[in-house]
Formats: sequence, structure tokens, C-alpha cells
Amino acid sequence: MEIKIRNEKPEAISTDALVTYVFDGDDRISGVLSNLDQLTKGKIAPLAKSGEITGKALEMVLLHYPEGIAAQRLLLVGAGKRDKTSLADLRRVAGSALRYLKARGVKNFVFLARESDNGPAQLQAVAEGLLIANFESDTYRSKKDPSKNIDSVGLVGFSPAHSDTREDLTAALDRGILLGESQNFARALINEPSNKLTPTVLADRALAMAREAGLAVEILDEKKIADLKMGALLGVSQGSVEPPRVIVITYTPATPPREGAPVLGLVGKAVTFDTGGISIKPAEGMEKMKYDMGGGATMIGVMRALAKLKPANKVIAVVPATENMPGGKAQKPGDVQVAMSGKTIEIINTDAEGRLILADGIHYAKKLGATHLIDAATLTGAIVVALASVHVGAFGTPREYLDKFLESAKAAGEKMWPMPIDDDYQEMIKSGIADIRNTGSGKGGGAITAAWFIKEFAEETPWIHLDIAGTAWYDDNKPWSAKGPTGIAVRSLVDFAMNQLPALASKNQAPK
Ligand code: BES
Ligand code: ZN
Ligand code: ZN
Repeated sequence: MEIKIRNEKPEAISTDALVTYVFDGDDRISGVLSNLDQLTKGKIAPLAKSGEITGKALEMVLLHYPEGIAAQRLLLVGAGKRDKTSLADLRRVAGSALRYLKARGVKNFVFLARESDNGPAQLQAVAEGLLIANFESDTYRSKKDPSKNIDSVGLVGFSPAHSDTREDLTAALDRGILLGESQNFARALINEPSNKLTPTVLADRALAMAREAGLAVEILDEKKIADLKMGALLGVSQGSVEPPRVIVITYTPATPPREGAPVLGLVGKAVTFDTGGISIKPAEGMEKMKYDMGGGATMIGVMRALAKLKPANKVIAVVPATENMPGGKAQKPGDVQVAMSGKTIEIINTDAEGRLILADGIHYAKKLGATHLIDAATLTGAIVVALASVHVGAFGTPREYLDKFLESAKAAGEKMWPMPIDDDYQEMIKSGIADIRNTGSGKGGGAITAAWFIKEFAEETPWIHLDIAGTAWYDDNKPWSAKGPTGIAVRSLVDFAMNQLPALASKNQAPK
């Protein structure tokens, strides 16, 4: 699919469909829409009056062969209340239009920006929304309908705002495409079934991406992992015939950053299939546990984008990858493992494997020089209970560090909610036989005790943990996205590396 900025008058655009959007309010038919109403000799205003066009979010009204304009169709998408609409809504409006038209065999269309929002930021959001919406998860379906394919989308009505130039608009388009494609890159990995995407294959795919993007990459095999004494990761992988891998991708800025500048460590959980191990999961829904490598795929997608965007600071991604299987050599409840950091862990439940592999991933990222950590993981069913598939559960210390990240999440239009990590919860992961246990004692707070377990390895290093168990996968189609992998957190993490990271104080800096 090609996305291009076009410079034409709405009435002169010859296309399968001209798309714009309607705000819910008394001035429904204003600006761009009143212009279209005049051009079509009053085809629109009566529909607003009769209640067919309300402007409610994602309502679709399709007109065929409207006279007065060259386009074959006019699609009006509801955008909700004007004062409440954000970039995130615009992203969804554009995406929903694409999926609506694609389902109807439309090949190309033009998206017309409204008079109130048509600068580079809006253009980027629209480009992202289009790419995200165009992703399909039917990779292995033999018979695909070739008529359901969008060839090209034109963007019209965008203009440089304030001090922006035309180049800013093209740069925004390039950025939107890069982010959308990187998010889809992560989604394609997540969508792969576990027989096609073992830890070894995931490492190969990451290696190929990194080489193509010009990033440094190292794949640690089972021998190197054993040499490094990553006992927590090895404890999980020993139940499977598939060997584990640790993927390390490094971006180093061309201009060396100042002495003691922050180095970001991104650690992603990549369990290519989670059966639960000896504490085996019930059969129902287990097929979805192929997406238990979503955190790892997210970090690989982020690095893909950063390779082109070139942030000012060094970024290291560490992705521990393994299966969690109940083989004859599998670890058992009651076993004690020694993590790379030297901490001893009592395994209470082999299904709490994500935190184990993150323990070694986090410790290794610190060893490689990360001064600031962020991990992403499909970690707990408890976060799904708390936040469903709407918000990512975001934990972190110190709180100011988490707050900076939440600003990026907001800018990227990804919903994330801060979760508590008070010391009171630390009590719940104390073990009678070892330093810590891998599940919380007592009943509640499963997402928080899981976060606390990881914090035991981040220690004093500023750290953020994103529990994406609920948000990495949609069970149902959405108007703006196919069901399946979402690629959540890629855009927030990229925004953070680009816009927040440089200003963070690193621990080597003298206090003011
Ligand atoms: N991969 C799961 C978490 C998960 C649940 C991801 C639902 C996506 C959707 C994780 O490894 C797990 O099994 N966690 C257990 C922990 C428990 C045994 C303490 C859970 O949440 O049930
Ligand atoms: Zn598990
Ligand atoms: Zn898991």
C-alpha cells in the first residue's frame, strides 16, 4: 500500500472514495463539510438533519456517485465530539475508514483532513492508523481474496502549521510509515505459530532485521547462556527440546553522547509458547499462548524504528527467548534456581516463567551498561482481570521516571495506567528456602507481585515494567484493527527513546 501527500481540490480528486470525518455537535456541517455539501448540491446537510449523520465515533455513512465531485464515493466517518477528539481518535478514524472500504473492494481512496487539524502531527497519526488497519493476521490462509487489497491512499488538506515547512509534512509521513511498519513487523512475529517461530527462528529473524537496519546484534546460544550462568532462563528452557536464545541488539549513536549520558535497556519477554510447564495450563485458550513472546517482539520492532530515527542516546535491547514446556527434564515446583545475579529463586509455579527469564535479561542489560530499564511482557492473567484489553499496566520506580514514560504513551496514543509498587507487596515474594519465590503468597495482587519479582533484579536502576498480557492481543476485530496481535507499546517506546531519554539524568552525573 502506497501513501502519498496530494495537493488537489476535493472536487477534482478522481478516486474510488473520498473520505472525511464529521464531529458530533450542532455545527456538524461546517468547514470542509459545508464546502462538500455545497459542491454536492446539498447531499449532506439533509442527512445530518434527518439523523442519519450524527458524528458519533466511527459511524460510517457512504454515498455513491455524489454529483459535483469527481470521486466515486464519499465516506463520512463519525469522529465524536470536536473538543474531545485527540490524535488517537484521528488514528482510529483513518484506520476504520480503510477497513470499511477494503471490505467493500475499494482499491484506492483519498483522506481529506478537516480544517481544524491538518498539521504534521495529524498527518503522522493518519499514516500510522492506515498502516495498522491494513495489517491482516491470516498469514497461513491458502485462499486469499485478491480484490480485498488497498493499493494506494492519498492524503489531502494537510498543510504546514505555524513554523512548519513542507519538508516537515513529508518527514511526518515518513515517520508515520516507519512507526506503522515497525509496529506491524512486531505483530507479524507475534502472529506466527510456535511451530514456525521457535526461539532459534525468532533470533534468526531479529538478526536479519538488525543486519538490514545496520544495528549491531549478538545472539547468545545455549552454551553462552550457560557460561553466563543465566540459571533462571535455563530453568525455564530445560523442559523443552528447543534450545533458548538471548537476542541482543544495540543501537549506538554516531555522535558520542556526553559522558555519563543515559543508556536505555529494553528487555522483552519472548516465551514462544507457554504451556505452563509442569504447572500446566488448561486446554481452553492455550493456543493463544503463542503470543507470549509479545514483549520481545515489541522490543525488536522498537529497534527497527530507532535504527532509522537515530536517537541521541545508546539503546540496548535484550530479548530472552525460550519455550515453557513440561518435558522430562522440566523444572518442578519446589525446585530452586540460581539467577545470573546470584539471587536464589524457589519455583512455586512453573507457569510464572516470564519473570524468571526477565530476571536474567534485566541483569544482563545492566551488565551491558543500561542505566535505565524498561521491560515489556505478557506477564500475568491478573493484569487482564484489572485492566482488560484496554490499558497496559505500567509499573516503575522512581515514580518520576514512570511519569516521563506515561507522557510518551500519551503522545503515542497508547493507553497505559500506572500501577502501585509499594514495599508492602515485597513481603509476598519472600521464600522459606531461598531468597525469593516466583509467585506471590496469599491471593491478590498477582500483577504487582510479578512486577516486584522483576524489581528484585533491576534493584536501584530506574526501571519500568509494562504488563501487556491483556493488550498485546485482540480476541475480536475492531473497526480500526484486525483481531490478533496489536503491537502495543512500540510507538510509546520509540517516542520515549527519541523525546524523553536525552533529558534524563544518569547516575554518573554530579547532583546539582
Ligand atoms: N503468559 C502468562 C500470562 C498471560 C495470561 C499472558 C493471559 C496472556 C494472557 C504467564 O506466564 C502466566 O502464566 N502467569 C500466571 C502466573 C501465576 C502462575 C502466578 C498467571 O497469570 O496466571
Ligand atoms: Zn506462564
Ligand atoms: Zn508466560
